Amino acid sequence: MDNNNTIAGWVLAGAIAALSFSILSGKYFHADKPERPETMGFEIEGVESSAGGSAEEPISVYLANADIAAGEAIFKKCVACHTINQGGANGIGPNLYGALGKAHGHVPGFAYSEALTSIPGNWDFENMSEWLQSPRKYAPGTKMTFAGLSKPQERADLIAYLNAQGSNLPYPEPPAPEEATAEGEAPAEGEEAAAATEDAAAPAAEEAPAATEAAPAE
Ligand code: HEC
Repeated sequence: MDNNNTIAGWVLAGAIAALSFSILSGKYFHADKPERPETMGFEIEGVESSAGGSAEEPISVYLANADIAAGEAIFKKCVACHTINQGGANGIGPNLYGALGKAHGHVPGFAYSEALTSIPGNWDFENMSEWLQSPRKYAPGTKMTFAGLSKPQERADLIAYLNAQGSNLPYPEPPAPEEATAEGEAPAEGEEAAAATEDAAAPAAEEAPAATEAAPAE
């Protein structure tokens, strides 16, 4: 009798253990399934953005290696419509001497389109690059019927040449290596550690929100 109770006890305990295991594992695997595609989606996104070496860098990166002589050669595509010597005549397009750093539509008296002159701010390296990549996209309705230059290095060379004709502005700083690596997850941790040991709390505190931002995305 005693023995029977013990056996019954163990059977019961075993049954409970088996039941709770199946409940737990059911929960575990069930919860896992709907998450899976989401997780994969994010991982693929991450892989794309970090492995996407073909994605364009900011123009400052290309400007760091810009070749003014190469830019002068590229400017041949522009001479049908533009002069760039100081005091040069307007053609189909305005004279471009010193345009970089000046307002959109910088030549007084040239019949610019509203599309261009209504853009606030001055020409700088970034917006000049966007403009030369696709004038139509940058200023929909512009009179400049030039398709654009898709290669960022060509634009950088050309802009360096434009800059050398009467503007001579300092090139923008390429993004700091810290910012560049902060996007990749693995180096960011090392950076964080390095930053934490180098300086006090400030850089680590700056990086921390980035880490928590990344967490809910997964
Ligand atoms: C087919 C003629 C044509 C070609 C080719 C052309 N442009 Fe233009 N460009 C124009 C016209 C027209 C305007 C005025 C646009 C407007 O008012 O919408 C203009 C405007 C500009 C401006 C703005 C100037 C300012 O005062 O704000 C820049 C900069 C410029 N062009 C650079 C270039 C460069 C660099 C090239 C060569 C890669 C080039 N363009 C090729 C016709 C041309």
